[in-house]
Amino acid sequence: MSVKEIFESMDYGPAPEAAGDALAWLVDQGDRFGHFIDGAWTEVGETFESRNPATGEVLAHVTQGTAADVEAAVAAARKAQPKWAKLGGKGRARVLYALARLVQKHARLLAVLETMDNGKPIREARDIDVPLVARHFYYHAGLAQLMEREAPGMEPVGVCGQVIPWNFPLLMLAWKVAPAIAAGNTVVLKPAEYTSLTALCFADICRQAGVPKGVINIVTGDGRVGEMIVTHEDVDKVAFTGSTEVGRKIRVATAGQGKSLTLELGGKGPYVVFDDADLDSAVEGLVDAIWFNQGQVCCAGSRLLVQEGVAERFHAKLKARMDKLRVGNPLDKSIDVGAVVDPVQLEAIRGLVDGSGGEVYRAACAIPEGCYYPPTLITGLAPADRLMQEEIFGPVLVSCTFRTPEEAVQLANNTRYGLAASVWTENVNLALGMAPKLVAGVVWINGTNMFDAAAGFGGVRESGFGREGGWEGLSAYLKPAGKTKPLARIEPKTGKPDEVGDALDRTAKLYVGGKQARPDGGYSKAVYGPRGQLIGHVGIGNRKDIRNAVEAAQGAKSWSGTTAHLRAQILYYIAENLEARASEFAARIDTMTGAKTGKAEVAEAVSRLFTYGAWADKYAGDLRSVPIRGMALAVREPVGVIGALCPDDVPLLGLVSVMAPAIAMGNRVVLVPSEAYPLAATDFYQVLDTSDVPGGVVNIVTGAHAELAPTLAAHLDLDAVWSFSSTDLSEIIEGQSAGNLKRTWVNNARARDWMGAEGEGRAFLDQATEVKTVWVPYGE
Ligand code: NAI
Repeated sequence: MSVKEIFESMDYGPAPEAAGDALAWLVDQGDRFGHFIDGAWTEVGETFESRNPATGEVLAHVTQGTAADVEAAVAAARKAQPKWAKLGGKGRARVLYALARLVQKHARLLAVLETMDNGKPIREARDIDVPLVARHFYYHAGLAQLMEREAPGMEPVGVCGQVIPWNFPLLMLAWKVAPAIAAGNTVVLKPAEYTSLTALCFADICRQAGVPKGVINIVTGDGRVGEMIVTHEDVDKVAFTGSTEVGRKIRVATAGQGKSLTLELGGKGPYVVFDDADLDSAVEGLVDAIWFNQGQVCCAGSRLLVQEGVAERFHAKLKARMDKLRVGNPLDKSIDVGAVVDPVQLEAIRGLVDGSGGEVYRAACAIPEGCYYPPTLITGLAPADRLMQEEIFGPVLVSCTFRTPEEAVQLANNTRYGLAASVWTENVNLALGMAPKLVAGVVWINGTNMFDAAAGFGGVRESGFGREGGWEGLSAYLKPAGKTKPLARIEPKTGKPDEVGDALDRTAKLYVGGKQARPDGGYSKAVYGPRGQLIGHVGIGNRKDIRNAVEAAQGAKSWSGTTAHLRAQILYYIAENLEARASEFAARIDTMTGAKTGKAEVAEAVSRLFTYGAWADKYAGDLRSVPIRGMALAVREPVGVIGALCPDDVPLLGLVSVMAPAIAMGNRVVLVPSEAYPLAATDFYQVLDTSDVPGGVVNIVTGAHAELAPTLAAHLDLDAVWSFSSTDLSEIIEGQSAGNLKRTWVNNARARDWMGAEGEGRAFLDQATEVKTVWVPYGE
């Protein structure tokens, strides 16, 4: 386009970014890449092509990893890990700092390479992706520096297997690698097969930064290589970002392997516009929400909910803005929307939109031939329609209207996902009133798609679990230091069957919805003491009892909304009432276990109730400094309904240690008490009854752990399952939890000293809460 033509049309002239440096780097590398293992490039193996989606040209040939490659990478990471950990946080901080500086130094090369490989507009790669990568390494250099002081008693998990998607190739690498290595772990990372190049360029940067060999290993290839990494027996921690479908597969494939797991999965983010919003700002926000990165963003504002009174006006403004979007060559600095990552993804978008129903509006702007999709708005769909529910992962917005804030909340939460949400209103009460009601890991007030290393990012529900960024992100890469004891199964004591009493009335019942309930099956079981003497009978709960208990717990939702002050008082009250009956409980425990530990156990249980009463109003979250106008509140919200298999060895203390942190933080619980010594729990019903605990907040179902675990783990209305049973049920719980991707916390065959320090504290509070990051405008 000539200058004259530009003046005549007042259109933008092309402003292409030069691709020379990036192409030269590729040529320097010989256009063919091996893996980066143990600080060196491996021989090029069988390769696949990496193409520029905007032009279709082949950029490079990348090696498809094999089992032997994964083996070599994991071995290198294992070998390097102890030395890397021993370097200490301050030593590692220097390396992270060097990485940050080098990313800044090579920012242009990285941005251009990213744009060519992925198709995203250079404006975004240059101004968002790469600066955020550098910021992530800076921030984590800081966490490494402070770690030993601020996270005492913790140590790295070991070797991390990390698998990332193609939408933010280098940024996702940074989100994974920075916290892992800051904490003293080593990594084996696999980039997505469409977009391996910036990861390989980063490998080059690692060498320049003096990252010791074996600390960062990069293996390329497709999903099969990802699977080999995440299931490798010598990988201690798995971190994945990608589709919910693959996340679920990984949950199942790694079940019972003792690996810790974080999953950042899909989303269908609501973008809520109230009638008093600054509509022009909200339209501009929406451009960022759904057309940023061609809509290939897990936290995209892909579902517009607009208040009825302004819907027509808002849609008109939106369509006018859509028509002005510039779609085209991603390397052009004036382009808004670039190329879709690959023809396969383009077909997937087309497949979803064609025949979708509703009213489809395609932006009237020019769309080049090739791997491009027009910015699209679809209205008139019903909330249950496929496109209102499914992630399209393309530049396609669906929209519906609402009348009241309550309806907005209902529609917003009407999804299996829970990643991010935006709220637009000039009314501060309304905005901040909405934030706690939205089921999402991130809420942006009058903004969208804001990210920072200091602010946790991650989802709830089927958007996955775990956070990236902030201290909470680092914590996924740490574990308590020290040796662990193996789990030893505690068998219920046995006695003579002829001593089994016949009086069903003496059978301790279950405790559901604040009332004692007979077990659904009507069966009970004798409980014997160490000398084989009959102590009593206990109900045998079944799957129906668990379902009833979960229903009761779901019905007690208002507990989460009560004040922490009230929850604290109730915990103190339980402690007081337990203490009043201390000798009775101590005697009961001694009779069941045969040990003389009852007194100490009751005293510790009382103390623990006081501890969590104390914590109830002191674990609300904190504030994060983000380099954007505003601040990010890291709000600790209850997880919801938690099902827990309680420890067997300490029947009262175990139950209290699990129940107290959960209810202190506003959760409701379904507890399966000690299988071996269940009667301390059943006596505890009366303590709960006299302590003002609302019905349904604590539900107790006695029974066999192994039988009840699958029902708990598979229950779609439970939000988390914990297991401290002396039977190792990790595999079954983790595997069965994949249905709704509930959080799991299992003992992985390790015993815990419940009387000691590891029986209480922040680990429990962390598991009982979920960080919601709320971005609010603040300052100028
Ligand atoms: P994907 O989830 O299949 O791929 C993500 C990564 O996982 C890639 O590195 C891939 O090689 C790897 N992978 C695939 N199968 C694996 C397995 N069984 N075990 C371990 N790793 C495995 O995503 P894909 O196929 O590229 O995109 C499909 C859809 O997924 C998109 O249309 C979009 O809806 C969604 N998606 C969501 C992302 C997010 O950030 N939430 C990112 C990418 C895709």
